[in-house]
Amino acid sequence: MSIDVATPGTLEDQLVLDGTTADTLFLQARTASTFADDEVTDETLQAIYALTRMGPTAMNIQPLRITWVRSAEARERLAAHMYDNNKPKTLAAPMTAILSFDGDWHELLATVFPPGAARKTMFDENEAIRTTMGSNNGHLQAGYFILAARAAGLAAGPMTGFDAAGVDADFHAESGYTSFMVVNLGKPSTAAGHPRLPRLEYDAATDTV
Ligand SMILES: Cc1cc2nc3c(=O)[nH]c(=O)nc-3n(C[C@H](O)[C@H](O)[C@H](O)COP(=O)(O)O)c2cc1C
Repeated sequence: MSIDVATPGTLEDQLVLDGTTADTLFLQARTASTFADDEVTDETLQAIYALTRMGPTAMNIQPLRITWVRSAEARERLAAHMYDNNKPKTLAAPMTAILSFDGDWHELLATVFPPGAARKTMFDENEAIRTTMGSNNGHLQAGYFILAARAAGLAAGPMTGFDAAGVDADFHAESGYTSFMVVNLGKPSTAAGHPRLPRLEYDAATDTV
C-alpha cells in the first residue's frame, strides 16, 4: 500500500476507499502506452459504460458517445488519423475507444431530464450553447470513463493527438458526433514506463477564501 502521508493525518485516514482501491483508481494507476495481449471482452466494455454513465452531468444530459474500435480494419482506419507518436500504440492496443459528444443531446432531453423536457425548444434554437454544454460535459464524462476503465482492471491511454475532423468524417458521417479523445485500453503491461511526472502541490493549485 503506497498512500502518501499528508499533514496532519495520512491520506488514507481521510478516505472511505480502501488502500487497494485508491491505488487502482488514482495512486498507482498510470497512463498506458503498452498493454498485455489479453482480449478486452464486451462484458468488460459494458461494465465500463455502466460506471461511466453514473457520473454527474449538467441537467443529466450525458452527451458522451463511445465508438469501440475492435476490428483490425477499423483500427488501421483510426490509426491513419492519429498523430505519428500515437500511431504505433493505437495499432498495438487490444481495444480502443473514440470518445465523442453528441451536439444534438437535447433530442433526448425528455428521456434523461423529464422535469426540464420543455426546455428542448430553447436548445433547438441555440446550437452554440448545445456545443459548449456537449463538449464540457462530454469531457467530464471522459474523466469518469478513464476511472471506470481502471475500476474494471484495465489501463487507459487517453490521447488528443489526432485529426478529429478526419475521424469524424470517417467514423461519424451518419451520427454527426464530434470526437475529442481517443483512449487505448487493455490489461496493464508489466513493461517499465517512464517515471511519473510531477503533480502540483496543494498550495499551488488551490486557495481558500
Ligand atoms: C486529455 C488527454 C490527452 C492526452 N493526449 C496524449 C497524446 O496525444 N499522446 C500521448 O502520448 N499522451 C497523451 N496524454 C497522456 C498524458 O501525457 C498523461 O496522462 C500524463 O502525463 C499523466 O501520466 P500518468 O498518468 O502516467 O501520471 C493525454 C492525456 C490526457 C488526459
